[in-house]
Amino acid sequence: MLDGYKRDISYLRVSVTDRCNFRCVYCMPADGVKTIEHKEILTLEEIFQIIKAATKIGIRKVRLTGGEPLVRLGIVDLINRINNLPEIDDIAITTNGILLQEMGTDLKKAGLNRVNISLDSLNHKRFHNITRNGDLKRVMQGIEEALRLGFHPIKINTVVVRGVNSDEVVEFARWTKEVPVHVRFIELMPIGTSSPWAEDRYVPEEEIKDIITDRLGSLTEIKKMKGSGPARYYKLDNALGSIGFITAMSNHFCSKCNRLRLTATGGLRPCLFDKREVDIKTPLRSGINEDVIAKIISEAVLLKPDRHHMNYGWDDQRVMSQIGG
Ligand code: 5AD
Ligand code: SF4
Repeated sequence: MLDGYKRDISYLRVSVTDRCNFRCVYCMPADGVKTIEHKEILTLEEIFQIIKAATKIGIRKVRLTGGEPLVRLGIVDLINRINNLPEIDDIAITTNGILLQEMGTDLKKAGLNRVNISLDSLNHKRFHNITRNGDLKRVMQGIEEALRLGFHPIKINTVVVRGVNSDEVVEFARWTKEVPVHVRFIELMPIGTSSPWAEDRYVPEEEIKDIITDRLGSLTEIKKMKGSGPARYYKLDNALGSIGFITAMSNHFCSKCNRLRLTATGGLRPCLFDKREVDIKTPLRSGINEDVIAKIISEAVLLKPDRHHMNYGWDDQRVMSQIGG
């Protein structure tokens, strides 16, 4: 359906859990965020009911996020059920990749089409520092498994933080020459734990492009790829993969935003950066039917603001893993 600014909202991002087996420095405090009581979290059945109702208002694409979606028990079965909804033509997940090697085959069988893997460093020690406990070797094995299983395209989300991993953009770019991965450099956003210090630590697209072309040669802009959303993509000569940029800070893409979010606690969130949410859990638990669920979803769509005002600060107490990255 169209929102109040004539954007066609067809994409639902679902946070299936607030939990994560990593503690990335810009996402979570070192000791984690206080976990939410179990009964506050939507059951997989409830999530499915909401997705099914959402197809009635025109949702065609679903992405499962977290926290880390693969730590949620029953996730494979949920994907299978979503895959059986005829209206849904694309199911994807955003994962930190640590469980991908062991779960890849089952995910593929369940009908998952695509995976985005978050990866902020190609250096073992640094990766461990950024994620506070992640094992780069296992994530790389997960990526290899995803390639082997034929997930396509495989996108890598790399949040570039000045002074932390900004010296690795050339290494990431070089990787796309040899391996068919699509690395997307994401500008750090001042959300959650990073909000006090992020503002001047994001690295804009032009700066990264200059560094890469300087070292590795020219970048050619390429046509939109499947599910490319807000990213702009480029390719190095003869590269198997590509390089993309998600410029949430320097050049917001709100006018093309087609998404609605569902938080793990059952809030419909029209905009990541706007703390307004529509509670769907309470009415759902009172036993409303699918048409009423769909009506509540459409009300949330109509609340979508024209654009975010993140550059003026973040006043939400919650972090990314609670909202759904
Ligand atoms: N800025 C930019 N990206 C972020 N993510 C989490 N927190 C932030 C932030 N403050 C990203 C993760 C992952 C996705 C789910 O969201 O790196 O790729
Ligand atoms: Fe987990 Fe992703 Fe947050 Fe890292 S950024 S702690 S992998 S939810």
